[in-house]
Amino acid sequence: MTYEYILIQTEQKVGLVQFNRPRALNALNREMVSETVAALESFDRDPGVGCMVITGSERAFAAGADIKQMAQATPVDMLDNPFIDYWDRLRRLNKPVIAAVSGFCLGGGCELAMACDMIIASESAQFGQPEINLGVIPGAGGTQRLTRAVGKALAMEMVLNDRRLSADEAARFGLVNRVVPTESYLAEAMKFAAQIAARAPVAIRLAKEAINAVYEMPLQAGLAYERRLFYMLFATEDQKEGMDAFVNKRPANWQGK
Ligand code: HXC
Repeated sequence: MTYEYILIQTEQKVGLVQFNRPRALNALNREMVSETVAALESFDRDPGVGCMVITGSERAFAAGADIKQMAQATPVDMLDNPFIDYWDRLRRLNKPVIAAVSGFCLGGGCELAMACDMIIASESAQFGQPEINLGVIPGAGGTQRLTRAVGKALAMEMVLNDRRLSADEAARFGLVNRVVPTESYLAEAMKFAAQIAARAPVAIRLAKEAINAVYEMPLQAGLAYERRLFYMLFATEDQKEGMDAFVNKRPANWQGK
């Protein structure tokens, strides 16, 4: 498959998608988001991939949805061609997805990063939901996921008054996992993803599913769900392998079975 707006590669069981519209600061047009989700779904099906990374450029992860493409849209255009459904498809991926963010991470770009499972930020990353400046509000999770991540007080400031977060603030408020030097942010994210990709694949998949279920269900239901997933892992060869490896003081050899 060839892509026009993204670059892809696989390295150490990590599937990498890199936005490639640098002159538009990786503004998310329909085609780029569609290609991104198609590439991620293909990595998700590939047994040679255990973890995925999405990134942009050092200057911009993504400066938001493409305003020029949206400017003249009607509500019916939006309904007929549901761009935002791609964010839901990202959420449905089985394998972990890490956003490696540098520079501008705004609007739909911030919503895309938040739809990933983890965020590694460069020191120069800047997070914001500036839609209010355009007379609209976030439409792909910016009022919902952001509020769950940073709390109501800060989310209100960010969405109502275009308050931007520096990388350090984003780490302090729990939006990102860690902040790393700008020169090496992608290498750091790839290294982190490779560590996850080397772990027991079925357990990784269910661990991701169980943590994300926190946002969908009440505590008692979540605990019961976690327990069922935990029990289910005792049907895998990897559970037998992992525990035998511990007992016999040797490294485990995961099969993903
Ligand atoms: C289309 C964009 C764009 C965007 C930047 N560009 N952001 N094009 N959509 N979101 C283009 C500019 O038009 C310009 O192209 C080129 O990228 C460089 O941008 P500049 O503005 O010249 O750069 P700079 O002065 O450094 O300012 C950077 C910036 C600013 C602060 C990020 O570009 C900006 O405010 N962009 C818009 C941010 C935003 O409002 N995002 C939310 C979008 S709405 P030309 O050809 O003119 O030189 C949204 C809704 C999501 O995301 C809904 C759910 C999907």
